[in-house]
Amino acid sequence: MKATWRIWLLVGAPQAAALPGQKANRTGGLYACPLTHEINDCKRVAIDEGVDLKKESKENQWLGVSVKSQGPGGKIVE
Ligand SMILES: *[C@@H]1O[C@H](CO)[C@@H](O)[C@H](O)[C@H]1NC(C)=O
Repeated sequence: MKATWRIWLLVGAPQAAALPGQKANRTGGLYACPLTHEINDCKRVAIDEGVDLKKESKENQWLGVSVKSQGPGGKIVE
C-alpha cells in the first residue's frame, strides 16, 4: 500500500463574497486547491462562520489577506 500525500495550495481571497452565515456581503475568505490538473476543484474553507451582529461586522474584513502555514501536517494561521 502506498501512502498518498495530499498537497493543498491555500489561497487567500480577501475580496471574496461572504458565506451565508456571516451576514455580510464581502468578507474575504480562504480557498484550498488540491494540486491536480483540474481547474475547478478548489474548495471554500468554512472558517469564521457565524456572526453576532450586535458585537461585530465582518463586512470588508479582508479575511485571507495573509495566510501562513506551520508546514506539512501543521496548522493554518490567518
Ligand atoms: C449588502 O449590500 C446591500 C446592497 O448594497 C445592502 O443593502 C446591505 O446593507 C449590505 N449588507 C451588509 C450586511 O452590509
